[in-house]
Amino acid sequence: MAKWKVYLTRELPKPALDMLRAEVDLEMNPHDRVVTREELLKGVKGKDGLLSLLTETIDGEVMDAGLPTLKGIANYAVGFNNIRVEEATKRGLPVSNTPGVLTETTADLAWTLLMASARRIAESDRFQRAGKYKGWAPMLLLGQDIYGKTLGIVGFGRIGEAVARRAKGFDMRVVYFDAFRRKPEEEKKLGVEYLPFDDLLRQADFVSIHVSLDETTHHMFSTKQFSLMKPTAHLVNSSRGPVVDERALVEALKAKRIAGAGLDVFEYEPEMVPGLAELDNVTIVPHIASASVETRTKMGTMAAANLLAMLKGELIPNLVNPDYVKYRKP
Ligand code: GLV
Ligand code: GLV
Repeated sequence: MAKWKVYLTRELPKPALDMLRAEVDLEMNPHDRVVTREELLKGVKGKDGLLSLLTETIDGEVMDAGLPTLKGIANYAVGFNNIRVEEATKRGLPVSNTPGVLTETTADLAWTLLMASARRIAESDRFQRAGKYKGWAPMLLLGQDIYGKTLGIVGFGRIGEAVARRAKGFDMRVVYFDAFRRKPEEEKKLGVEYLPFDDLLRQADFVSIHVSLDETTHHMFSTKQFSLMKPTAHLVNSSRGPVVDERALVEALKAKRIAGAGLDVFEYEPEMVPGLAELDNVTIVPHIASASVETRTKMGTMAAANLLAMLKGELIPNLVNPDYVKYRKP
């Protein structure tokens, strides 16, 4: 039997490539850059499977370019807002993501940004490198305490929960907002309190965002939300850029409406809106929340396993659109 053909939009850690190559004919974007739209449309043609990244928009046109051979799309990310899932479902195509394996790693990075923002680490590093340090000073680079403060978690899924767990060691009060409220006994066990969104914004010293991006969360943070936050508060975003109105954030940071922000993601990624990079009270890193050797490897083998299950017609471990079966071609 001829091997299945798979298109991979960017090189992944080797264990994932090995897993795929053992069972499929693998064609991979050979460049160390995001695949172009043309390359993607050409690459998926005649393939049985597509392994995509969050950097590509996978819409109906891409799916049609892969049909009739295409059997499914495995995304190398927990977020799958880059895939028009309803379009896949309508075409009988399964879509998968990589949940769970990056939860702790992403929570670590959210905390890294929180602490870096509170203690002005990036700014201090720039100061020190520039040779500006002329001796210890009582008023030099004062930040804010973290321990004992209130942490507000917006979006309380796996990652939000992992962020909450880490707050225990800092003796924090942890409040959360989510469209789905947890059961009281669960809240008690996790040591968290539910608050309506506006109340959370008013009370939190640190706000960390862990929602997924969709129509309901687009610009969930804009001028109004920043105006509700404490002037001493810090905002951390390691979810998706468009959840935050980045222009409004620049204004809020400039006007010191809020004290600082730590950002892993950007509204127009990889670009930043004008003015953001010039601000000292923002810590910015290039979408590295899941970027540990261990986790990127696990994401790769997980995405590969999802894709192989699609090709073999087996149960797909991390299927995001179970309804696709209704439209599957025999
Ligand atoms: C990374 O941003 C992911 O969604 O996995
Ligand atoms: C992802 O892992 C989430 O649900 O937060």
